[in-house]
This record gives sequence, C-alpha cells and structure tokens, in this order.
Amino acid sequence: AESKRSKLLEINKEAAKYFYFQLRARQGEIGYRYLRDRQLSDETIKKFGLGFANKTSNDLVQYLRSKGYPPELIKEAGLCNVDEKHGMYDKFWNRVIFPIEDINHRVIGFGGRVMGDGTPKYLNSPETPIFDKSRNLYGLNFARTSRKGNIILCEGYMDVISMHQAGFDQAVASLGTAFTLGQASLLKRYTKEVLLSYDSDGAGVKAALRAIGILKEAGLTGKIISLEPYKDPDEFMKNLGKEAFQERIDHAENSFLFEIRMLEKEYNLSDPEDKTRFHREIARKLCDFSEEVERENYIEAVAEKYHIGFENLRKLVGSIAAQTG
Ligand code: UTP
Ligand code: MN
Ligand code: MN
Ligand code: MN
Ligand code: MN
Repeated sequence: AESKRSKLLEINKEAAKYFYFQLRARQGEIGYRYLRDRQLSDETIKKFGLGFANKTSNDLVQYLRSKGYPPELIKEAGLCNVDEKHGMYDKFWNRVIFPIEDINHRVIGFGGRVMGDGTPKYLNSPETPIFDKSRNLYGLNFARTSRKGNIILCEGYMDVISMHQAGFDQAVASLGTAFTLGQASLLKRYTKEVLLSYDSDGAGVKAALRAIGILKEAGLTGKIISLEPYKDPDEFMKNLGKEAFQERIDHAENSFLFEIRMLEKEYNLSDPEDKTRFHREIARKLCDFSEEVERENYIEAVAEKYHIGFENLRKLVGSIAAQTG
C-alpha cells in the first residue's frame, strides 16, 4: 500500500510538471493570459505551480504512457476517464490547472477551471488513496508556517491565491467541499483562531453558519470577515486592496453575533409576535453557553444590540435552561 501511495504521488508530480510546462508553451498561452488577466503575477503562478491542460483530449495520457506509467495507475490517480468508444482520455482539458498539495508540498490532486463560462466551473480530482478531500485544505502547505497567528478559511482556489499574493499567507480553502470536522481538526494543529471568509452570497452564508458549528465542535473559535459589497476575497482584494482587507480582519465579527444577525433576517421585527419568537430563539441559543460569565457577557451584548431588557432576557434564558435541563 505504501508503494502504491508513492507511485500515485510520483505520477501526480509528473502530471503537475506537464501542466506547468503546457502553461508556458504556445498552446498554453490562452491559459497564461487568463491567469494574468485575473491579476496573478508570474511569481504567484510559479509559487502555486499553476498549469494548463490542452484542448486536445488525450495529451496527458499519451505523455504519461510515453514515460512508462501503466494505464491502471493513470486511472487510479484520477487523471483520465475511460469509456468503450474512446478508451482512455484526459480528465482535464482546456482548463487552467491548480495542483492541490498536502502539508508537505506533495501533489495529491488537481482542480481545473474553465476559462470563461462553462460547466462545471471547476473540475476536481476524484478521491484516491492519496486524496481525501475531507482531510486536506488548499493552501495549508504555505499557511502552516504563517506567523499571522490566525488562519483565514475561504471557499476557493482563487481566493486563497489572491490573499497569499496580497500577503495574507494564512489563507486556506476547503476545496469546494463542505467544511468537515476532519479539516477542523487539521486546522487545530496550527491555530486557535479561524477567520471565516466565505462568499457573501446565500450559499456562502449557509456554509459559514455550518462551519461555525463545526469549528465549535473542534474547540476552535471563529470570527467572520465581512466582504461586503464584494462576493469573495478575490474580488474584494481586486477592488479594495490589502489595507482594506486588513481593516476587515481587524473588525471581524464574533461568530455568535453573526449567527444572531443572520437569524434576525428570518423575522419581521415590526410584528410583536414575530419579535417575541426571535427573542425566544436568541434565548435558546444563549443557553448553549455553559460558563456563567460567558453567558452573561453574551446576554449583555445581545440585549444591548437588539434593545431587549437585560434582566428580561436573562430571565428568559434562565427559564428555558431550567425547562431543557
Ligand atoms: P465559487 O463558485 O465561489 O468559485 O466556488 P470562485 O473560486 O469564486 O471562482 P472564480 O473566482 O469564478 O474562478 C468556490 C470554490 O468551490 C469549488 C472550487 O474549489 C471553487 O474555488 N467549486 C466551485 C467546485 O469544486 N466546483 C464548481 O463547479 C464550482
Ligand atoms: Mn461561492
Ligand atoms: Mn467565489
Ligand atoms: Mn471568485
Ligand atoms: Mn478601523
């Protein structure tokens, strides 16, 4: 099994090298242009080992075969698809390529983005014996040695790369899958504080709320970075720049207060009945704080922010806590 793993690592390394050189070849110019248009520097392209998969459909397979790699291994690495009519053909074609590295800088998989519109926008390697998406984070190979004292967790490849390019070398992404407890445990080895920087669209907010719960479960505290009015860290950086982003980090929102603020949107606060339901829901959530001082501090913060009488809210929390035990 160990030799299987090392063979898969080796073939991935070879494939990454191939994509990397394609980006610099004549056929790859369109990919190189795409990345430069997205304002990535040559240095950044090199640092992240970005590459290009050609339009022709079995370039990589042929290259790997010519290097003596057996078809079975190419298949197991997830680098090709197979069907009866076409035989083996490249999984990635006409896409810019983002090699995914583990914390030791070994290539364990790939993401490929279409240039322009098209679906899927990103294509990712399947799970293989060396690629477990739920236990890896894109960018952690660099972020692990960051001296920033926190980790920024975001959604996408481009977000991580833009942030690193702007000097935020503590950024990682959850690889397009939902953030998992395995990834949270991995983060816990490197930091105590996670700053969430998910997209500001509906899907991103939902994913952030989920991630807050998972971080809590892993014993990590999370804060939320606001990207408004931009959609994701990449777009924010492009439009407002790194000083503004640092400002947003400095003013990151407490995750509990973020949860309440999102919850608020579900209620019509001009209706007393709805408003009461909102306050009850807040009180229920406040019950989760088992440490007395912490709970009091949150009651105080929420009471002030939502104009609820402190003593009233405290009583409500107390009675709900008594009911539920
Ligand atoms: P987004 O749709 O937010 O992509 O998905 P993005 O990074 O902002 O894309 P750009 O800026 O238009 O290039 C966030 C992440 O989710 C995963 C990828 O990891 C992507 O970076 N994803 C997204 C997929 O795996 N597949 C998809 O089809 C789309
Ligand atoms: Mn998104
Ligand atoms: Mn995005
Ligand atoms: Mn984006
Ligand atoms: Mn300020």
